[in-house]
Amino acid sequence: MDQTVELLMVFKQELEQCGSLQQLQDLRVKYLGKVGEVTNLLKGIKDLPADVRPVFGAKINSLRSELETLLADKSSTLKAKEMQLRLQNEQTDISLNSVADWGALHPITLIENKICEIMVSMGFEVLSGPEIETDYYNFKALNIPEDHPARDMQDTFYITDNILLRTQTSAMQARLMEKKKPPIKMICPGKVFRSDNDASHSPVFHQIEGLVVDKHITLCDLKGTLEYIASQLFDSKTKVRFRPSFFPFTEPSVEVDLTCSNCGGKGCSLCKGTGWIEVLGAGMVNPFVLDNCGIDSAKYNGFAFGMGVERLAMIKYGIPDIRLFYENDQRFIKQFGK
Ligand code: DAH
Repeated sequence: MDQTVELLMVFKQELEQCGSLQQLQDLRVKYLGKVGEVTNLLKGIKDLPADVRPVFGAKINSLRSELETLLADKSSTLKAKEMQLRLQNEQTDISLNSVADWGALHPITLIENKICEIMVSMGFEVLSGPEIETDYYNFKALNIPEDHPARDMQDTFYITDNILLRTQTSAMQARLMEKKKPPIKMICPGKVFRSDNDASHSPVFHQIEGLVVDKHITLCDLKGTLEYIASQLFDSKTKVRFRPSFFPFTEPSVEVDLTCSNCGGKGCSLCKGTGWIEVLGAGMVNPFVLDNCGIDSAKYNGFAFGMGVERLAMIKYGIPDIRLFYENDQRFIKQFGK
């Protein structure tokens, strides 16, 4: 049998057995290397009669190119197989729960976002102010002079005699009114600080301040605005009740109650049987404050309110202790707003 045909048959069998690129490389050397099988055949040419040499030489050359084609085909098959194997073995399962867990928005963030969304839909602008504030904006501009008893209501962290951690987002009222002429419709969400710490008080908590200044604003506007917020945050049956109160920067001042979201006003342990829950302080902007900030109180008036975000979140989600908000216990946080 023609030696080249025989060699090709044996080669094909060995090629079949080849399972890796390394084995393939060894096979290439065995057949096409310097001292390989094909070279050996070529060396044998010289012993042949002169007339058959060219024919045999041509056969060997075509054998060589056939082997090369077969080796190249096998090489791409093996490469594809190896790649597939690597993809399978080295794949990272990014959906694995224990490796990457979904986050959830903090309940405080959820309530803050929701209220901002409601207020923006009513045409309010959302502002933020400095957490480190001067005594002037936090107290004095808001009609709370140095010896005023209202300062005792807000145990303050002082940095110097005049610089402090703001105790209320109301500080932004004065900052804004100094700069902007009416009409004003703004809310200011943010952190406030007081030296207080128990189950219902935290040294850091969140407030949202609201301020409207324009002509002919009334307590009815305030009530309508708060009713709308309550209907969106809780449900449309939620009622708003005003009780007379006192804040130096509003006159008259009110404390605002909502019908208890837990019992719908019938009376339960959350509302201590009254059917109402106190949620915020509000009132008509004190003319002193307007004039202090350069707005003519003979022409303009307005309303303001300040709500505690933790308090609203506690009511909405039935959370008993304010400290749960700050402990970052995943089991607590994960229950909200996936
Ligand atoms: N700043 C008050 C506080 O922290 C809350 C407040 C009451 C804000 C009445 C107001 C307001 O704007 O009109 O206790």
